[in-house]
Amino acid sequence: MGKSKKIVPVLQPTFGDTGEMIRKFQRLFESRQITLGTYTRELEQAVSDYLGVPHVVAVSSCTSGLILALKALRLEGEVILPAFTFAASAHALVWCGLRPVFCDCDRETLSIDTRRAEELITKRTAALMPVYIFGSAPDWEPLERISKKHSIPILADAAQGLGASYQGRKAGRFGAVEIFSLSPTKIITAGEGGLITTRDGDLARTLRKLRDYGKAEDGEDMEMIGLSARLSEFHAVIALENLKWIDVWMEKRRGLIDTYREGLEGIPGIRYPTLPEGSSSSWNYMVLLIDNEIAPFGRDDLYLRLKEKGIQTKRYFYPPAHRLAVYREMLGPDLPPLPATELISGQALALPLYSHMSEVDVRAICGSIRSCA
Ligand SMILES: Cc1ncc(COP(=O)(O)O)c(C=O)c1O
Repeated sequence: MGKSKKIVPVLQPTFGDTGEMIRKFQRLFESRQITLGTYTRELEQAVSDYLGVPHVVAVSSCTSGLILALKALRLEGEVILPAFTFAASAHALVWCGLRPVFCDCDRETLSIDTRRAEELITKRTAALMPVYIFGSAPDWEPLERISKKHSIPILADAAQGLGASYQGRKAGRFGAVEIFSLSPTKIITAGEGGLITTRDGDLARTLRKLRDYGKAEDGEDMEMIGLSARLSEFHAVIALENLKWIDVWMEKRRGLIDTYREGLEGIPGIRYPTLPEGSSSSWNYMVLLIDNEIAPFGRDDLYLRLKEKGIQTKRYFYPPAHRLAVYREMLGPDLPPLPATELISGQALALPLYSHMSEVDVRAICGSIRSCA
């Protein structure tokens, strides 16, 4: 791999039947109905059937979906979220005038530490925002108990979690609302896009208005301050065709992750995130946790050496959200001590993984990692 100077990307989109996508694009060109049309409705219905959730609202991205959902819930004050997450989780809060309260993560599952989250609840807390870290469902049982006990809604950043489940229930059926991403790095991509799921019909109606400027049902008057955050019909077609493959691709990724783990067996100081009990993953990412004291290479060292060999990896989430310049400045001296997040963000490395990847490539990457030892 290194010899041919081929670059192995850390992530790549996989596509279903591109011939069928092109046929549907042709129909779109002919019909000229290229936004909020039949394919968006078909996609929403297909996701609703797949997840078993009554309401699905397709939007332009997970970030816009988070913003719309926060607006629809009319939240004010603070929202507790993990610091070990992608910046967009916190950005959405700030766009809505909410203050992010960063919580530590669990050292094993990397998901929000639910005990710490409960300790952070104050009179100002408006919601909890767990995140599907690397595609794994968070520990919903304690989260739902805390939500009920303190009468605080949960809005989940499920950007990476389409296809994951918890105790046999698919992601999308938890909390007040869950928001998924269809960006190019996700198991199911639309090109760009997002999906909001909820069991609340009134909330879904509000979200449909909010994604379309806040238009009233008559299409003329404006009822609220919305966004321009529709999913185009072209994007809906891509997502629809890809969605047909979700279970096959999750299984494929899971197999590739097993191959990685076999290939790296015996290297000291390497471990993997575990799943919260009862949780399953969309397997969006293959992540190693490298103990920098014990492993034969440090995390940053391995990242650089693989890069030299043409293998792209990603230090992820690094820096964690609370260490990003914008949040350091915003939080000032209030920056909380988050020991598990600091530790994990210094250990985590995402390796190349995509649904059309071959086992041969995975084994070659394992060989390259071993040669760094
Ligand atoms: C955890 C998390 N939240 C939010 C987002 C933002 O998703 P989008 O690009 O669809 O806005 C991402 C994207 O990678 C993510 O990983």
